Amino acid sequence: MAPLLPPSPPSGSPRLLKSGSGSEWSVVVQSNVKSSLLLLLAISTVAAFSILYSSRSLTVARTAGEALTQSPLLAALDLSSRMPEDDDDQSDEPAEVVSLPAAAPSTGEAAMQLEEKCDISRGKWVREPNGPVYTNLTCPMLPDFKNCQKFGKDDAHLYWRWQPDGCELPRFVPERFLDVVRGKRLAFIGDSLARNQIDSLLCLLSQAEAPVDVYSDAFDKYRTWHFPAHNFTLMVMWTEFYAHAVPVAGAEGKPISSFDIHLDRLGADWTSRLPGLDYAVISGGNWFFRVNYLWEGGRRIGCLNCAGNDANLTDFGVAYAVRRVVRAAVEAIAQCRGCKTSLVTFLRTYSPDHFEHGSWFDGGYCNRTAPLQEREVSMESIAWELRRVQREEVRRVRAAKSGGGARRFGVLDVTKAMMMRADGHPDNHFDSRWRRNGSDCLHWCLPGPVDMWNGVLLQRLAELTPPPAAP
Ligand SMILES: *[C@@H]1O[C@H](CO)[C@@H](O)[C@H](O)[C@H]1NC(C)=O
Ligand SMILES: *[C@@H]1O[C@H](CO)[C@@H](O)[C@H](O)[C@H]1NC(C)=O
Ligand SMILES: *[C@@H]1O[C@H](CO)[C@@H](O)[C@H](O)[C@H]1NC(C)=O
Ligand SMILES: *[C@@H]1O[C@H](CO)[C@@H](O)[C@H](O)[C@H]1NC(C)=O
Ligand SMILES: *[C@@H]1O[C@H](CO)[C@@H](O)[C@H](O)[C@H]1NC(C)=O
Repeated sequence: MAPLLPPSPPSGSPRLLKSGSGSEWSVVVQSNVKSSLLLLLAISTVAAFSILYSSRSLTVARTAGEALTQSPLLAALDLSSRMPEDDDDQSDEPAEVVSLPAAAPSTGEAAMQLEEKCDISRGKWVREPNGPVYTNLTCPMLPDFKNCQKFGKDDAHLYWRWQPDGCELPRFVPERFLDVVRGKRLAFIGDSLARNQIDSLLCLLSQAEAPVDVYSDAFDKYRTWHFPAHNFTLMVMWTEFYAHAVPVAGAEGKPISSFDIHLDRLGADWTSRLPGLDYAVISGGNWFFRVNYLWEGGRRIGCLNCAGNDANLTDFGVAYAVRRVVRAAVEAIAQCRGCKTSLVTFLRTYSPDHFEHGSWFDGGYCNRTAPLQEREVSMESIAWELRRVQREEVRRVRAAKSGGGARRFGVLDVTKAMMMRADGHPDNHFDSRWRRNGSDCLHWCLPGPVDMWNGVLLQRLAELTPPPAAP
């Protein structure tokens, strides 16, 4: 049953994005799982396919002598020469399709618009005898598939805190967060790891005030909570790629794991929901590790991870595609008509997986019981490359003073901290009915190291208040 599946288009025919209609995601949901299990879905689809590739990404350097095979895709990455010309006139696109300007070369370093008083991107994990701010008994909305202790995970991973080099990241105080965001609207926009962060934030904030569930779409892709005492609205918005993407149909018309990603158009599902937001937290990257196809100007221009499958297609590499969609997303936010001038956007940098001795469904696991040492994480990994690309694109949009120059952009740079947390994933500690003989070494246990992302968010938000006077 895939009634809503858009047909795989003949090459050269641009497709229109129907805002609000049954999207590609719902098709996948309907055909694969019961509709309410979004995160199961995330587990079974995001990970299953992304890991096909990411077992090669190897953020864990197993031994000094065991050289990490670097992705051949990265070696081939040469952005400036591969940037295709965008010579298409997009002027008569329907309104809900966001057309993007042609990609330009990266600018150099630019003055930061958002002063980061504490550089949390570098540091180490140190013992924290106090443990987490909440437990599986004090967070009623903790999803089962992140409730690792319920399914037998030892609690050793809970007694650590991130110690940045040269400054402190204070313990998360839920009341403080709610004071800082009083009367505001904040959205997490991204995939199942964005959901992981909002689940963490809901647990953290629920220690001070119970959130009220006010909206969910039929597939749990878009959801809104309200904290009435603080008039704070918290939203999650689902997007795998930020760009408009359509599942590729296989032989029987059923979606296969690949997507056609339209690099020059953003998905309207999330862009149409930007007006009214005070804060947006964007993230992503994991879905690009499938065999995907890249489109531009209505033409298929290449692919990702397709080496060997399609001799005639250029494999642009994950970092290239991530750069394009991050650039498109932040430019669209910077130039968004109808968005608040005061909208502040944070990019949460790439979150690595830690599969060892295999990948998602072929025996890979992640049963370490302590954070990795710094010398055990590889700075040659794709995770670190994607983090670099993401930071560069934030820097670039900050430097571009034209258009939405007034809107501010920041980063929640968690990549290195998370590269060291091979001990913080569910592994096989989730409901066996959903396990399908696989381990989850991509998402993060709750409570767990992912709570730190919200500590960083609180720091950054606190630094913003009181809001600076308009220029
Ligand atoms: C909470 O975690 C403990 C282990 O710390 C476990 O025994 C218990 O079953 C869990 N309870 C719930 C409701 O998740
Ligand atoms: C609550 O916040 C919204 C913005 O999110 C604002 O429009 C509204 O006036 C606020 N309500 C109260 C009672 O302060
Ligand atoms: C590659 O392109 C050539 C020439 O257009 C065509 O003959 C060949 O079938 C293509 N190969 C594949 C694998 O699509
Ligand atoms: C689970 O995965 C392991 C490792 O690949 C394999 O040996 C085993 O047969 C699998 N079990 C089932 C029930 O599929
Ligand atoms: C992790 O699992 C492997 C394979 O089952 C086992 O050999 C190893 O001892 C385990 N490590 C820990 C710390 O439990």
